[in-house]
Amino acid sequence: DDPGSSSWLTGLAARAAGSMSTPLREYVEHAAGAGVTAGEAAAAWGELRLRPHVLRDVTDVDPSVELLGRSARVPWGVAPTSLQRAVHPDGEVATARASAAAGAVMVVSSNAGSTFDDIAATGVTWWLQVYLPSDRTLAGPLLDRAVAAGAAAVVLTVDTPVVAAWHPSEALIWDVADPGWTRVNFDPGYEDQPGSEKALDLGPHDIDWLRERTGLPVVVKGVLRGDDARRCVQAGAAGVWVSTHGGRQLDRSLSTAVALPEVRRAVGDEAEVYVDGGVRCGLDVLTALAAGADAVFVGRPVLHALVDGEAGVARLHAALLVETVEAMRLAGCRTPADTRDLLAMAPDERPH
Ligand code: FNR
Repeated sequence: DDPGSSSWLTGLAARAAGSMSTPLREYVEHAAGAGVTAGEAAAAWGELRLRPHVLRDVTDVDPSVELLGRSARVPWGVAPTSLQRAVHPDGEVATARASAAAGAVMVVSSNAGSTFDDIAATGVTWWLQVYLPSDRTLAGPLLDRAVAAGAAAVVLTVDTPVVAAWHPSEALIWDVADPGWTRVNFDPGYEDQPGSEKALDLGPHDIDWLRERTGLPVVVKGVLRGDDARRCVQAGAAGVWVSTHGGRQLDRSLSTAVALPEVRRAVGDEAEVYVDGGVRCGLDVLTALAAGADAVFVGRPVLHALVDGEAGVARLHAALLVETVEAMRLAGCRTPADTRDLLAMAPDERPH
């Protein structure tokens, strides 16, 4: 039960599974297609190799980072996931409280079941995640609510022109879902409006439009290639987020651990780079930083931890902190910036 022991993180998913209904568990663990991408995500971090520094003073380790101009006490954050109130009645508010206390950024799904105001009242630094509809103007009220509630950035998810097919059993959750668990920040009847379906014609201009419309930095989530990352930066993105949506969209997409160095090389220092997918322990955090990320995001482990409400998510952050600091010390790194030369790779493949 000690958050410092690696077994707490290792056993997290299995323990949570026992506390979730079958439809909820299947929803959380869902993977697209044959589950190839989802299945490879975590193992891919373990394929990367590090060149640790020695003979460096690691008495004082500071894992804090600056993300989009604001300081975060830890280099990981909460990835946007829907239906948190199906996992625990306190839902996103519990996640927000624990993340505020840990100094971690929280990305709030546009499908969240808690209001932006309730989430913001916890004091957490939060970013809004959005999918844009065919008729972009229909996104206006949601964006305005987020800006008014103090969102610090907008994350545009671009890997979902359509939602990849679900097996019938995984769709069960929508039959048992309480309407209060999802989409409470939209106008009533939003989905009945023509043009509210997900846009099939997203382009770089949408990045610019979102920035103009909200006045907030825009992060593009779901980028897996250097050339696309360049287009995001040229369109004014402040951040590029390497993600396969947890293996829930295009199956057979390459692992984010493999894509990350190329994206960082393409972006250079012109924008921030984030990554998610299969990050399960502090060593994964260190590896992702070394591979080019300014911050990493965690999806399913937060839902697993949220089974125990705010205390569960607090314990997740605590366990990641203990492990990340240990990994940084073992690698001879006092700060996340010190990790940039750790990756063992051919010079022309290195992220930095
Ligand atoms: C997600 N993800 C997601 N992404 C997004 O942009 N908007 C969303 O509403 C959701 N909803 C969602 C629900 C559930 C149950 C899961 C598991 C995932 C994707 C998420 O933000 C993230 O990219 C992955 O979950 C990261 O991979 P890991 O950490 O789950 O392996």
